[in-house]
Amino acid sequence: MSCTLNLKNILYKKDDKVLFEDITFDLGHKEKIAIVGANGCGKSTLLKLIVGLERPNKGEIYLFHNLVKDKNDYEKYRNDIGYLPQDVSSFFLSITVIEDIMFSLRVKGLNKDEAYTKSIEILKKLDILHLENRVIFELSGGEQKLVALSSILVNDPTILLLDEPTNALDEESEKKILNILNSLNKSMIIVSHHKTFIVNLTNTIYKLDNKLLIKI
Ligand SMILES: Nc1ncnc2c1ncn2[C@@H]1O[C@H](COP(=O)(O)OP(=O)(O)O)[C@@H](O)[C@H]1O
Ligand SMILES: [Mg+2]
Repeated sequence: MSCTLNLKNILYKKDDKVLFEDITFDLGHKEKIAIVGANGCGKSTLLKLIVGLERPNKGEIYLFHNLVKDKNDYEKYRNDIGYLPQDVSSFFLSITVIEDIMFSLRVKGLNKDEAYTKSIEILKKLDILHLENRVIFELSGGEQKLVALSSILVNDPTILLLDEPTNALDEESEKKILNILNSLNKSMIIVSHHKTFIVNLTNTIYKLDNKLLIKI
């Protein structure tokens, strides 16, 4: 199977406490999976390991069949992975919504007009065009989540790693996100407690339990 991500025998300790004992997992090309598990079992930490914000004590992580060990390795895949953290409050780099969404496009080399047009398109798609010129830190948690998701999706990454994407969203926004995610032909890992959201997105559900990741 062509994979976008492989975890091989991951052992990870946090403050001497083993959080993951031996996790082996493959994410197929364009495969969508959900991860569930009790509070504090390590779901957010597992996504942080995948994006390189934490390092395993043992085992290997492969992105697109290449071993990633350090910052330099991850740098190569910066535009390929879209990571939505559970807490988005430290996600933003700019003051206003439109500036934040345009930022990564400008870094990638798009000119101002191109970046603006693309950013407006994604704001329309997520139904938050009215937030264009708002100061991000003055937005509600749910609104911030939608802005962060816009910043991620505008870059069209190959893999999406979404940590509790529906947290703090109203029902209408939830439906919108579900439709968008269903329309995208990408590899995705969704960490969520929201059962109906998950089952409407994928049949492949893993549970993080007793330091292992098990398909249920
Ligand atoms: N910054 C941190 N410092 C110390 N312990 C942490 C930190 N973040 C998370 N933990 C601990 O690591 C464990 C896993 O946390 P987390 O991955 O956030 O779980 P989940 O997302 O499944 O609720 C928990 O026991 C949590 O208390
Ligand atoms: Mg979490």
